[in-house]
Amino acid sequence: MATGKDQIIARDGVHESPWQSGLTPIKTNSTADPRTVYDVLIIGGGITGMTSALMLQNAGKKCLLIEAETIGFGTTAGTSAHINTFADTTYTEAQSAFGKEGAQLFADAVNEGFAIIKENIKTYKIACDFAIKKSYVYAETEGQVKQLEDLCKGMREVGLDCTYTDEVPIPVPHQMGVVMENQAQFHPLRYLQGLQKGYGKAGGQVLEHTRIDSVKIENKIHLAKSGDQTFKALKVIYATHVPPGITIFSFRCAPYRSYVLGVKLKDENYPHALIYDLQEPYHYFRTHIIDGQKYLLVGGNDHKTGHDDPEKAFASLERYVRKYYKVASVDYRWSSQYYIPVDGLPYIGHIDGIYCATGFNGNGMMLGSISAKILSDLILDKKTKYEKVFSPSRIKPIDGFAEFVKENADVAYHFVADRFKVHETDSVKRLSPGTGKVVEVDGEKVAAYKDESGQLHSLNPVCTHAGCIVNWNGEEKSWDCPCHGARFDIDGKVLAGPATRGLEQIKAKSHE
Ligand code: FES
Repeated sequence: MATGKDQIIARDGVHESPWQSGLTPIKTNSTADPRTVYDVLIIGGGITGMTSALMLQNAGKKCLLIEAETIGFGTTAGTSAHINTFADTTYTEAQSAFGKEGAQLFADAVNEGFAIIKENIKTYKIACDFAIKKSYVYAETEGQVKQLEDLCKGMREVGLDCTYTDEVPIPVPHQMGVVMENQAQFHPLRYLQGLQKGYGKAGGQVLEHTRIDSVKIENKIHLAKSGDQTFKALKVIYATHVPPGITIFSFRCAPYRSYVLGVKLKDENYPHALIYDLQEPYHYFRTHIIDGQKYLLVGGNDHKTGHDDPEKAFASLERYVRKYYKVASVDYRWSSQYYIPVDGLPYIGHIDGIYCATGFNGNGMMLGSISAKILSDLILDKKTKYEKVFSPSRIKPIDGFAEFVKENADVAYHFVADRFKVHETDSVKRLSPGTGKVVEVDGEKVAAYKDESGQLHSLNPVCTHAGCIVNWNGEEKSWDCPCHGARFDIDGKVLAGPATRGLEQIKAKSHE
């Protein structure tokens, strides 16, 4: 579904998401005054950064939002844009790790995030296809019935409605379902652009194509460096998922890729609700009309970034949807990144001199929005009931989250094992056009990509973040790091942090 990359909003992969379709970027200021000390510098132009910038600018702060690429380049252009009152970490799980009060605060945050989105749409009159829908979750096995009961019990304990039903509008055989009223969906980039316009009208500044390399504090002023430019601010928010560098988030958040297909059906069997199964990894279904055409959006098959094969993930997703729906065509296929927090709840707050918000799991729309409110309250010296529970420096036992312990073990494994993975038979010559692989040339490892014209793009495969070896993502045409999720394009440019420096280019001539 290519519509001409230069006319649309860019994102961090070669596949186009339907949100980019027909949308042109909003022109932004191309300069920021290096002499000005801004009240708040916001780094990252997705839903979290833009909502924060808008709130703080409206509160009378002089804000500068800086984005390494263009507004919406990261996950906001690749989300499947579900707006729910329940979350991937169930309230039952939250209760077991954080007690009743913690679970209630988590539920309040998710709900408040939802309310912020609704309020912004109303205030700024944002035409973003916002629609209230029912959500269904269904169980296919006995074990999943028990999970469903836990989900419902947890929701009721935090005061949310959850009703059992036999009638889930899905052609997948199932034993039981639950329905939640008053959930929603929207077009995330139209929403983001609505916020951006509001922020601009309030006097907020945006600077794109500017990657911040480092932030240091001198005499209580934050100095944010980008190449030879320095920007000054009293406070800094990192709204870039995990902040750059090796931080506690390198050990507390695991990066995941999630896959989505936009499918046209031969019949009218499009679901009128948001529907989720309980498989591991899970699938979801919803319908969206894009440029007058109805699409079934089917997502899932998530896996840790840089681990499994993205081509297989798409193929399996497509097989799955074809099994249950009469597919006329698959018009969109794209993947996106999110971060799972080690103990189940997001990290939102102040740590090591900066403000940050990350670990949203698959609930970035609501948690990104409430993060803006929490960070704004902290910066404005207002009390927030969420400060403690979401504190990035909290120390929680991670019992019951064994999966996450495994994630950290994975990092150590990749750091060592990937260095020995290349076989002697791997060679540049064997690469077909359009494919990439880490190969060994004269005893040196090379991340080699041969483009469609046969030209070789050769990089040092050692990730600039902490030294793991990157893996080829043949779908989004990127090099993805299996350790903390940094991603690089075919020429080594950073697509996603926590790396801030690109992969080093190697002269192709020396190893052909
Ligand atoms: Fe940490 Fe690559 S992202 S080593």
